[in-house]
Amino acid sequence: MKVLGIMGSPRRQSNTEILLDKALEGAGQAGAEVEKVLVSKLKISPCVEDYGCLKTGECSIVDDMQLVYEKLLEADHVILASPIFFYGITAQAKALVDRCQALWVRRYVLKTRGEDKRVRRGIFISVGATRGEKLFDGAVLTVKYFFDAIGVKYAGDLLLRGIDDKGQIEENPAALQDAFRLGRELVSGTRDPQ
Ligand SMILES: Cc1cc2nc3c(=O)[nH]c(=O)nc-3n(C[C@H](O)[C@H](O)[C@H](O)COP(=O)(O)O)c2cc1C
Repeated sequence: MKVLGIMGSPRRQSNTEILLDKALEGAGQAGAEVEKVLVSKLKISPCVEDYGCLKTGECSIVDDMQLVYEKLLEADHVILASPIFFYGITAQAKALVDRCQALWVRRYVLKTRGEDKRVRRGIFISVGATRGEKLFDGAVLTVKYFFDAIGVKYAGDLLLRGIDDKGQIEENPAALQDAFRLGRELVSGTRDPQ
């Protein structure tokens, strides 16, 4: 069983990466083979909306996203981790999400998905500096539709307010434990899709 972690923060050892690492550790402890993709290290162009994918399901842009498509389709479960930038996920993570329009086309237009009997689950991890009630609303919607486009059930999230400085999350052991547990439950299946 493979779990793919998508690290959407542009800074390394970020709050996001620390939490994602914990979740992947939990998934690994539950027996999964885990892999982390650092989105900001990849060359992923934004979608150019030429609808090349509409005919073939293949994106016309050739860049690192080709590799990400393979990993996304192969993974049994997916963790998307991104801090909140202006009430959404980061531009780097959003470019990856938008490029999954090609997978949406395969699923809903061309219906070439084939038989995939797996119940694939996904979780969303995010942090933001402020504490507003609606802080994660936009990002959660984006991630729900991203997961739907790639055939993954939204199985939960870890959303932490008031986190701003680099590595600040280390001062919150409960959050680190929650991330670990979330990763473990993702693999053990004790977390049902929402
Ligand atoms: C460009 C930018 C936009 C941001 N927008 C928001 C925001 O809308 N709301 C918020 O609460 N925090 C916002 N933040 C703060 C980050 O979410 C916060 O610093 C977070 O801890 C960064 O996570 P990281 O360490 O994983 O990169 C923003 C930060 C940056 C750099």
